Amino acid sequence: MGSYLIEGGRQLNGSIVVSGSKNAALPVLCTTLLVDGVSVIKNCPRITDVLDTCRMLDDFGCTTKWEGNTLTVDSRNAFASEDSSTGAGKIRSSILFMGAELGRFHKAVVHKPGGCQIGKRPVDMHIESFRKLGVTITEEDEMYICSLGKLKGSDIKLRIPSVGTTENILILASVAEGETIIENAAKEPEVCALCDFINSCGGKISGYGTEKIVIEGVKKLHATEFEIISDRIETGTFLCAVAGCGGDIFVKGNVSAQSQAVMNKLEMCGCLVKGCDCGIRLVSSGKINPINITTAVYPLFPTDMQPQIMSVLTISSGISIITESVFEKRLSHAFELIKMGAEIDVKGSRATIYGVDKLHGAKVYGHDLRAGAGLIIAALMAEGKSEVFGSEYVKRGYENIEQKLQNLGASILFENTGETDV
Ligand code: UD1
Repeated sequence: MGSYLIEGGRQLNGSIVVSGSKNAALPVLCTTLLVDGVSVIKNCPRITDVLDTCRMLDDFGCTTKWEGNTLTVDSRNAFASEDSSTGAGKIRSSILFMGAELGRFHKAVVHKPGGCQIGKRPVDMHIESFRKLGVTITEEDEMYICSLGKLKGSDIKLRIPSVGTTENILILASVAEGETIIENAAKEPEVCALCDFINSCGGKISGYGTEKIVIEGVKKLHATEFEIISDRIETGTFLCAVAGCGGDIFVKGNVSAQSQAVMNKLEMCGCLVKGCDCGIRLVSSGKINPINITTAVYPLFPTDMQPQIMSVLTISSGISIITESVFEKRLSHAFELIKMGAEIDVKGSRATIYGVDKLHGAKVYGHDLRAGAGLIIAALMAEGKSEVFGSEYVKRGYENIEQKLQNLGASILFENTGETDV
């Protein structure tokens, strides 16, 4: 646990190398449980969500080993967990162990994931889809007790294109008998990365990146070496930091194709933005035009970038409107920004941001991962000193954020208050 001490008002200049994607790494790591062998995962970010997932893999009898950013997972001696002490429920993506555990051992006991700061986040579609694949699921207290008679492919139409549900089906159906078709599937790059991983393990998945994914079940997945894609949300976070503070940044990584929606909006804000195969350059004068944004599924503007761009828009030359359409309660950071001098009116899932000349430093609290990132950006933009609390959330998804920002010329220090983050 700790906080970020930031002295704002400096331009940011230079380049950063973006880390491996959190949301691509987590489902891949959960899937290594289904692989009976030694998986080598390269470009894996050392963030606390990944470290938690490693602990869960250890609890399943796997052995995990780091060498730099390469993570080796040996799952040859893995076993099914008889209780959910495996930590499922600690982080939300642990629900993906349900698919991997069922696929390998034909049984699983999983904690119900609780609600979180950004809304209820139910798992009803995961449960309904698994039932269609032949899983029997009973609910006992806070647990789902799951067992499998025959794992058989099925046609599954999703009510909404949920990322996690699509991934869970992909994991389990990859070893089902026969064909599974997911309609209204999620198209996010991280879903495609999971399909690439499963295919490199001998799976047969096609159509990913579109609304209809076809999974031809195979008997077994074999171990492989795989590289995690670069993190488009970390990329967007750094682009927003420079947009708001002014400066010139090159973000190195193969991320521009996946970041179009964010790049377009930052261009509309008045920044110069140019993408190529090896990264994205952004130049900002620190003067921001007002824009309107509605979050939506890929390839539209990602909900995971909403808090960061809200910080940028606090200093625009007019009125901006942000509508959050993915998660019901993802505007808590607006109230923290108000403590820094922002003028924001929140009604339901809509925030109206009246641009002010500048923000001033304050003590603020990020109640979730991306809110924390957004507040760090606001503190970098603000005049004077700020303290941003909630580092336990930020560290879930950003690798060395303070060092990377320091290298761009920011004044930011992480102050550890002694307790552990995880
Ligand atoms: C993933 C990402 C998260 C991102 C989100 C949306 C990971 C680890 N997390 O979360 O960073 O913000 O996608 O891009 O990859 N829903 C239901 N029932 C279900 C499942 C989901 O109603 O069974 C709803 C959710 O409450 C939400 C919407 O569907 O309103 C989208 O959620 P989903 O795409 O599943 O997000 P996650 O996979 O949890």
